[in-house]
Amino acid sequence: MHKILKSAVVILAAGKGTRMKSDLPKALHKICGWPMLKFLIKTAKALNPEKIIVVGGHGLELLRQAVGKDVKIVHQKALLGSGHAVNQAAKLLKGFSGSVVILYCDTPLLSAATLKGLLEDHASGRADCTLLSVTVDRPEGYGRIKKDPSGAVEKIVEENDATEAEKKIHEINVGCYVFDGRKLFESLKKAPRNPGKNETYLTDTIEILSKNGKVSAVSARNLEETMGINTRHHLAEAQGIMQKKILDEWIEKGVRIRDPRTTVIDAGVRIGVDTEILSHTVIEAGCVIGKKCVIGPFTRLRGATVVGDGAVIGNFVEIVRCKIGRKTQVKHLSYLGDAEVGESVNIGAGTITANYDGKKKHHTVIKDRAQIGSGTVLIAPVVIGRGARTGAGSIVTKGKNVPDGRVVVGVPARVLSKRK
Ligand code: UD1
Ligand code: MG
Repeated sequence: MHKILKSAVVILAAGKGTRMKSDLPKALHKICGWPMLKFLIKTAKALNPEKIIVVGGHGLELLRQAVGKDVKIVHQKALLGSGHAVNQAAKLLKGFSGSVVILYCDTPLLSAATLKGLLEDHASGRADCTLLSVTVDRPEGYGRIKKDPSGAVEKIVEENDATEAEKKIHEINVGCYVFDGRKLFESLKKAPRNPGKNETYLTDTIEILSKNGKVSAVSARNLEETMGINTRHHLAEAQGIMQKKILDEWIEKGVRIRDPRTTVIDAGVRIGVDTEILSHTVIEAGCVIGKKCVIGPFTRLRGATVVGDGAVIGNFVEIVRCKIGRKTQVKHLSYLGDAEVGESVNIGAGTITANYDGKKKHHTVIKDRAQIGSGTVLIAPVVIGRGARTGAGSIVTKGKNVPDGRVVVGVPARVLSKRK
């Protein structure tokens, strides 16, 4: 076992992301329901670092809202390059003697296993910097890794500064580094301003460090993980890669996914074993689904909806911010919003919770074993009692709660008298 040095992680997220053509900071563009930055923070946490520092600039307030309290955020007021960005973290790392891991917010597919491997290589390799590289067919747009004949890294040449010969190098800089903290900040002091762009490149520290010490490049095993996202085309491609990874993980954990090509499951979802997801189903970030459920086809679950064990959610059903009890069935053509539905309830085809009055969202409660007839509209706030029933086509108006065990019918729905 190699000794893992204590580490701190710096995530660069100040860049404008000009090539995204968007007002949103690049770090907040979403993949599988999560902002890119959230994936990086999750991966960073897997290293148990002493500190995680995000360098923000463009859209700083939005970034602040997106990161948790356990992550420090520093402001890069003028966007003067990746080297200048790292320097903004210098104050917070003053006196820190461990390894500094640097990640770019636009490389969100990196796995914790890859990062841990890089840290271990750094700890055992006695280099001042250990960086991740990958050899690709199309290196355009990436920094090229220039090595001496012995295989040691000499420098990184950015696309714009590369000679024709350097452009033919296919080994590229992924944008994921482990530095000796002290050496990093020393070399940054010496890094020049790039005359063309008036920026200081982090990649210029590599040549400075390699002249007096050693820089190692470790080849990434998984090519897909190393993708950098600079355009919306890249974002779409990354979505596909991450989606496959998420689906594979659920299949591995005992979830049946009938048609992975048409199934969308975001990051940060939980699903119990033996649940079956049918085709064309969308399950958004934050949803929790129990064991032995059947979801789909053509179902959309949104906004932290919780579905109990053994529930069946079927065709053309949209559910948002709801709690659905065990063994409850919502099989066809329904919209449930802001509702708490008990156990063993049957929601008939075409049921709608009218949860929005144009100003506010209101709650609907449907208690255990209630039976909601086809085409019922429940105007919130309203409570349907335990074992109560609504006739087909009833419109239950707000506040007209249906008592336990009673039956309502009509428009507006009225309670039927009890049979003798
Ligand atoms: C960068 C690397 C390149 C590498 C590629 C991998 C540099 C100079 N080049 O190029 O070698 O192959 O990533 O994807 O680092 N940032 C700031 N403040 C700034 C400028 C940038 O925080 O002033 C951040 C960005 O938000 C981004 C990262 O630094 O997270 C890299 O910037 P970007 O413009 O994406 O660099 P690339 O051209 O992709
Ligand atoms: Mg980039």
